[in-house]
Amino acid sequence: MPANRPRTKILLDGGDPAETLRVKNALGFLDGQTTNPTLVAKNPEIQHLIASGHKLSRKDQENEYKHIVQQISPLVGDAGVSIEVFADLDTTAEQMLAQGEEMFSWIPNAYIKYPCTREGLRAAGESARRGIRVNVTLCFSQEQAAAVYAVTKGAREPVYVSPFLGRLDDRGENGIDVVRNIKKMYERGDGHIHVLAASLRRLEHLLASFALNAELATVPAKILEQWAAQGLPMPDENFRYEAVDAEGRSLKPIPYRDIELNAPWRSFDIRHELTTKGIERFVNDYLNTLAPAA
Ligand code: G3P
Repeated sequence: MPANRPRTKILLDGGDPAETLRVKNALGFLDGQTTNPTLVAKNPEIQHLIASGHKLSRKDQENEYKHIVQQISPLVGDAGVSIEVFADLDTTAEQMLAQGEEMFSWIPNAYIKYPCTREGLRAAGESARRGIRVNVTLCFSQEQAAAVYAVTKGAREPVYVSPFLGRLDDRGENGIDVVRNIKKMYERGDGHIHVLAASLRRLEHLLASFALNAELATVPAKILEQWAAQGLPMPDENFRYEAVDAEGRSLKPIPYRDIELNAPWRSFDIRHELTTKGIERFVNDYLNTLAPAA
């Protein structure tokens, strides 16, 4: 066990059990894993099946996903394995919930990922009431995070909310600000939500997530291996996050907003263009890569 293990739980963002094992060995620990339709579609076994001309039905796809998370499950610690429901823009909460219940039975340490939409939040709220652990994904704003808080209030298990900071950076906004703002907003809450920094693109994102005391961070293998190769550095008191993109251009700050956390969840404006785009991307990757002949 490394002496300087961070307080932030470290999850691998991936869909390949061999990679999970490799990263766990490099770090000496691994608290959890997140998966999503894009990452599962990149799984080497699935890629091999597709390359050899196999046509996967939805049921085959589901079985492959189940097989993948069942291999990952025993490799990780108590932050669990997040499994994402298949949802397009028309999927209802009831349809997501049915998938979520089934997926939750696959492994003992599952978290079910629902998108941060009206229907996704309805499914997340109902799941939390039924004792299904939840991770609300594709979150891009403080207002969305407030709705996640409100709809899952009373959950018996910690609920994860995943702000995708890299995708905000991609369009010139400082994604780290959203993590900071959500953490600040939740200071007035009851602690039932854990912030899972997601869509990390570089080591500085990870160090900034530590500095902000994010409860969890999900990180691609490449960055975790880079972190391990440098001896698992932690930010010290002089650490300053430089809000610039890969070309060194300044990222636009995202200001904090004073939001009443205890308002009814439906009163929050949860629309976000990147949530919609994110769902569309997952659907495309899932359908195009896993079922090219469907
Ligand atoms: O866990 C979130 C992540 O998989 C999304 O990352 O790099 O596609 O924005 P990215």
